[in-house]
Amino acid sequence: MQNAIPEYVKHQGLIQWVQTIAAKTKPDRIVWCDGSAEESDRLCQEMVKAGTLKRLSADKRPNSFLAWSDPSDVARVEDRTFICTDRQDDAGPTNNWMAPAEMRQTLDDLFEGCMQGRTMYVIPFSMGPLGSPIAHIGVEVSDSPYVVVNMRLMTRMGRAVYDVLGASGEFVPCVHSVGMPLVGGTRDVSWPCNATKYIVHFPKTREIWSYGSGYGGNALLGKKCFALRIASSMGRKEAESGAAGWLAEHMLILGVQAPWGRKYHVAAAFPSACGKTNFAMLIPPQGLDQGGWRITTIGDDIAWIKPDSEGRLRAINPENGYFGVAPGTNEKTNFNCMASLKENVIFTNVALTDDGDVWWEGMGSPPAHCLDWQGRDWTPEIAKAEGRKAAHPNARFTVSAAQNPVIDDEWDNPQGVVIDAFIFGGRRSTTVPLVTEARNWEEGVYMAATMGSETTAAAAGQQGVVRRDPFAMLPFCGYNMAEYFSHWLELGTKLGHRGVALPKIFCVNWFRTDEQGRFVWPGFGENARVLKWMLQRIEGNAQGVEHVFGITPRYEDIDWTGLAFSADQFFHITSIDGKSWQEEFALHAELFEKLRHGLPAALLKTKSVFESRLEQRLAA
Ligand code: OXD
Ligand code: MN
Repeated sequence: MQNAIPEYVKHQGLIQWVQTIAAKTKPDRIVWCDGSAEESDRLCQEMVKAGTLKRLSADKRPNSFLAWSDPSDVARVEDRTFICTDRQDDAGPTNNWMAPAEMRQTLDDLFEGCMQGRTMYVIPFSMGPLGSPIAHIGVEVSDSPYVVVNMRLMTRMGRAVYDVLGASGEFVPCVHSVGMPLVGGTRDVSWPCNATKYIVHFPKTREIWSYGSGYGGNALLGKKCFALRIASSMGRKEAESGAAGWLAEHMLILGVQAPWGRKYHVAAAFPSACGKTNFAMLIPPQGLDQGGWRITTIGDDIAWIKPDSEGRLRAINPENGYFGVAPGTNEKTNFNCMASLKENVIFTNVALTDDGDVWWEGMGSPPAHCLDWQGRDWTPEIAKAEGRKAAHPNARFTVSAAQNPVIDDEWDNPQGVVIDAFIFGGRRSTTVPLVTEARNWEEGVYMAATMGSETTAAAAGQQGVVRRDPFAMLPFCGYNMAEYFSHWLELGTKLGHRGVALPKIFCVNWFRTDEQGRFVWPGFGENARVLKWMLQRIEGNAQGVEHVFGITPRYEDIDWTGLAFSADQFFHITSIDGKSWQEEFALHAELFEKLRHGLPAALLKTKSVFESRLEQRLAA
């Protein structure tokens, strides 16, 4: 059974595809979503009734809800994420691979009847401003109403998408099921999911199939699956014909108004849960040029970047909302984010206070009592005695970008904004200095390619171990990582031949610690001081010293007005220890060995240049 196909859906290919998926998955009902507020309200109401959502206090958090997921379904599952290309080499050694035919057989079995007793929602969405030359359309079918209401916040979702799609437009088909059919009177649970999980991508046919999880990047398929894995392979494919192609990157995008009157746009890549949302909403310190800096948000997680007709790199944020990590967010670390979260928010896996509001670690003083993310009593005493957190470390909020008080005027510009600089950053308690400017595109690509970062709760698995996370794209690159490096290098060469000045590339590390394990750099708003140095470097107005991998500022090159940060502290977070870097290069070598098939020779060449510079330094 299905509700009438709306008369504005004119795409026969789409209608047929939906019918084929329905014939396989056998939902009780099909609902064609229109993306309206009424639809979202109705679904939220139904989820409150089913126990999936709790309505928060109308006074404290108007029109907001809280979901608690199954404890086994709290993060992206990288080991269950697959890139199914014809040849294993095309997925590369950093992705899980299965032959397409074998995977299709597996999915065929899993999806057979998997929506019985459920409703299948058809969710049309645009990644990027509707009709933008950089945007692309997707349609997700899902048996999760939680996915529908989150997709409505995270993407441009609903009826208007069909106008852009017309009768024959292209769309990326995305199939999602929580994998828990309601057959034979089985009682539903508030967070349906399945112990078996598959998050599958077929880059050639641009399809996404996701089974068994209802959480975040596993289920909101516009985000990591489409906007990064499928889109990155689409951008590379376009380069095969000799064109420049384009980039789909795990990057926030900032607008930076400098006191000298110029506005810059900066794209920055950090691994998951390393402060991208905070950086994207940063408030520069008042002391810095008497408050003459203003930072505005274009995006907080993903950037699609294409050369324009003049060869300048233009970026859009394909998303429409933020799916940010709640723990650690507060008025000091991210004032603008807290202001965005006042109403119309879906929270997942944070704690519920006795007055119907939410709380998480690092939000402010703890309540005397609340219910933790698993619905258990929680008090500061329990926390102390049992070491139990009130919110899951990967607890999230979903909120529309429109609620961000510092949203950039151009955030919705279909043409995107011209990028002036790229920043790459990992979470490293040692070794990597606060900031380095690459001497050129090639050396910048090398630094981004060899980036390491300590793992966080955003993905299931062990936390705090350093792993190589090239370009912060390790879990998100939809094709062979070695070829991805080539794509970046070739893009630089192609644009360079057109006489275009490429964006400068910087690497940062906000996370160096002292002997007690405390962060030395204050971070957050103070990162604007580092940004200032970078932009002055673009203008040719700041000094620095040549180092092994590029140029780093001296203490006196950073504007310290209003911040007590000593030269000793600065030395602690900028020093380059020769021995640690020898070990680091050994880890780069391991990465390159893993990626040896197709690894661009330029990276090996750059490595030996860096190593000989390091040797000279050690010998000096
Ligand atoms: C995210 C992630 O959800 O990177 O943005 O895991
Ligand atoms: Mn992310």
